[in-house]
Amino acid sequence: MFKQDLTSDELLRIIFKYMAKIASERNLNEVLVLMADMGREMILSDRCTVWLIDRVSEQIYTKVAHGVDEIRIPLGTGLVGSSIATGENIIIKDAYNDPRHNADNDRKTGYVTKSIITVPFRNNDGEIIGAYQAINKLTEVDYFTDRDLEILSLAASYAGKSLESVMLHQEIIDTQREIIFTMGEIGEIRSTETGNHVKRVAEYSYVLARALGLSSAEAEMLRTASPMHDIGKVAIPDAVLNKPGKLTPAEYEIIKSHTKIGYQLLKGSKRDLLRTAAIVAEQHHEKWDGTGYPLGRKGEEIHIYGRITAVADVFDALSAERVYKPAWPLEKIENLLREERGRHFDPAIIDVFFEQLPKLLEIRKRLTDDKVDNE
Ligand SMILES: [Fe+2]
Ligand SMILES: [Fe+2]
Repeated sequence: MFKQDLTSDELLRIIFKYMAKIASERNLNEVLVLMADMGREMILSDRCTVWLIDRVSEQIYTKVAHGVDEIRIPLGTGLVGSSIATGENIIIKDAYNDPRHNADNDRKTGYVTKSIITVPFRNNDGEIIGAYQAINKLTEVDYFTDRDLEILSLAASYAGKSLESVMLHQEIIDTQREIIFTMGEIGEIRSTETGNHVKRVAEYSYVLARALGLSSAEAEMLRTASPMHDIGKVAIPDAVLNKPGKLTPAEYEIIKSHTKIGYQLLKGSKRDLLRTAAIVAEQHHEKWDGTGYPLGRKGEEIHIYGRITAVADVFDALSAERVYKPAWPLEKIENLLREERGRHFDPAIIDVFFEQLPKLLEIRKRLTDDKVDNE
């Protein structure tokens, strides 16, 4: 039942197998999982995780398995945290006889930790960027040795280049998303939408898109672009945008023009992301039955991105409290969406909306506006 330590040939085979996968992977979480799997196979441990430093939030984080949310702890805490902080390797042969081991997690999960190894690793400039941590050696000698240290360092150095380029890619994506949220808020803040409105619209749109069968790349694109749906409002005069009371027909036409303006602002780009945003800005007020604006498109003539964002935007606007209206109770919102199924909204999207409602409500709760502050 015990395993035998691997020969050099076997180690090489594992390295080749994983390096091919890691080099072609662009998703950071997937790279972390692949690196962890590689480490676990190479040193024959029961569990293995790869931890990275997040300098922005001063935390370290890991991704334990596909689909599972990441785990985060404050920088410098825990065994792996102190290993990253000091740059020292840690080998513990018998966790329960070592004061450095915190058994809280074992007590919660029922897992029994025996041996531990923690190996920090560095980037090309020599700065520590993360660490390998493995638990419970599966060979007859039931603890980790200096050879395991070497092997994990080796694994980290082989994967390091790919890891760094994926982290850089992720940094660019995150920065882009933040800029877009900010741009989107400029449009919203001038009218009455505040707080996390654009973030919620982004997440609702993503969930609806996936449930409708759009690819993860398309859904991801829509998630990033949909916060810009009202960007055209930057060009609408305050006197019209925030006029108390009823609008004249001419003023209403001016408000409606935010769709065209948003489209004009964004349509010139050759980037998929901004083209998606242009579609959303133009078509989020179209209605399934053809009575919307600005084009009066009908049914599937309206781009799927526009149809999805329309549902996400209206759901969020009704859910939130505004100076001119209280937050609607869920039942009232559900009734309206049901009534407007096939009128304002694509029936297929309303069906998916109800199917995904628990997930959408979870997002609403997570991204709540604690305090609604209008200006
Ligand atoms: Fe709008
Ligand atoms: Fe909106």
